[in-house]
Amino acid sequence: ASAKQPYRTGYHFQPPKNWINDPNGIMVYRGVYHLFYQYNPKGAVWGNIVWAHSTSKDLVNWTPHKPAIYPSQPSDINGCWSGSATILPGGRPAILYTGIDPLNRQVQNLAIPKNLSDPYLREWIKSPKNPLMQPTAQNHINASSFRDPTTAWFGPDKKWRVIVGSKVNSLGLAMVFKSKDFVNWVQSKTPLHSANTGMWECPDFYPVPVKGQNGVDTSVNSPYVKHVLKTSLDETKHDLYTIGSYDNVKDVYTPDEGSVEGDSGLRYDYGKYYASKTFFDNVKNRRILMGWINESSSVADDIKKGWSGVHAIPRKIWLARSGKQLVQWPVTEIQKLRANHVSLTNKTLKGGSVIEVSGITAAQADVDVSFEIADLEKAEVLKPSWTNPQLLCSQKGASVKGRLGPFGLLVLASDGLKENTAVFFRIFKSHNKYVVLMCSDQSRSSRNQDNDKTPYGAFLDVDIQHQKLSLRSLIDHSIVESFGGGGKVCITSRVYPTLAINKAAHLYAFNNGTQSIKIAELNAWSMNTAKIN
Ligand code: FRU
Repeated sequence: ASAKQPYRTGYHFQPPKNWINDPNGIMVYRGVYHLFYQYNPKGAVWGNIVWAHSTSKDLVNWTPHKPAIYPSQPSDINGCWSGSATILPGGRPAILYTGIDPLNRQVQNLAIPKNLSDPYLREWIKSPKNPLMQPTAQNHINASSFRDPTTAWFGPDKKWRVIVGSKVNSLGLAMVFKSKDFVNWVQSKTPLHSANTGMWECPDFYPVPVKGQNGVDTSVNSPYVKHVLKTSLDETKHDLYTIGSYDNVKDVYTPDEGSVEGDSGLRYDYGKYYASKTFFDNVKNRRILMGWINESSSVADDIKKGWSGVHAIPRKIWLARSGKQLVQWPVTEIQKLRANHVSLTNKTLKGGSVIEVSGITAAQADVDVSFEIADLEKAEVLKPSWTNPQLLCSQKGASVKGRLGPFGLLVLASDGLKENTAVFFRIFKSHNKYVVLMCSDQSRSSRNQDNDKTPYGAFLDVDIQHQKLSLRSLIDHSIVESFGGGGKVCITSRVYPTLAINKAAHLYAFNNGTQSIKIAELNAWSMNTAKIN
């Protein structure tokens, strides 16, 4: 980030310029991580979409390559939209992606590497049989809502299955197609799953072990795994998921009881985070989630700065011990960028206090803090009508005094706090349990009024009677990626300070409640700049 470009990131993925959206075809091949992404080579707004391509040995530093997939045959002449990679027997990658045909219909295509001995997979050949799946008069598929094939998985009948996002009226659908050879695909009569939420973009479907933090191959199905169905809700631009079980004979997914569909259910991230997908990293036996973070600035500002969109730090993802939600944590590789460590231990934060954490580059930092709350009984009572956490975060922003909280971090803050983004907690009492609210309040993040500064929030399922309350924030000039309770709630925000930029940015811990709380431990690091593209 320079004085002229204060919002460029130091360690989040972005190309040198122009528009980016969804991560595509992510995989590890011969020890090299591959990231393709939706890219407009011609400008800072969406359009002219190709698959740009970068590779990495550590998920931190990325080398750019030429676009891997771009319009070249009738079945993708009007755009190469999102899709996924599958590793076929013998370790051969195959990519299924959505093409836009001459009639602007959405169809599904196959591409395979030209040269398997190139670990960078720089050249791709499209199947002469493309499109492999398409809307016809017989199948009644909606030609403008038929896209984003997933990683395929292998079933007990020795056939591959893939799902494609679709809708019928307001019913979101995960359509199933099956194939023996990955070229000839037959649509199944019933979808894997459907719900009344509107169009499902970029579905993702994968197993997670019931115990532990490891990942497994996408084709695994056993009593030791649960399945996750993630859908990107076109209408609200949220990545939602349910946890359930998968019947691989009927090809039907059933969410667990209590696993809520739609916007009031679980989200990967309660801030800005969309069109994500996972892959199984068989080098480190983990499942990794990568997602797109859009701008919160105006289109005019995007055009002025010449770029739009970044990707989130890759996150390891696994099932929480409760079995009721997922947990996410930045891949540990990112920690090698840490420099200039500062720390605090056992520091009481009296009601109404703000303390500066100095000695690091606050505009590009990693902060990890845990809080201890002595007098939980002092918590305010949660009113029964306070059921919408995001609304609660906007009504009770960081400047609204409470009893236990708001307390947390003020990041990308200007001297004197005129500008700051507050990431914080507030604790309530409800009958005989405690409710933790986590918020990211952008309302004071910038003097520029053209930005979307909506606060974000979620309830956090942690046992604060027995555990410390933790918060980690990855701060990178115009991004704040926050992980509450060890990764049980993630909130990503985009902010555009005008004062708190580069060296003029500060970091503070604050407590705007009436009760004291204690910082058990705070560790903060400057983050070095990664080599990205
Ligand atoms: C999601 C999405 C996908 C589509 C792609 C086009 O952001 O709309 O559904 O394939 O982007 O760029």
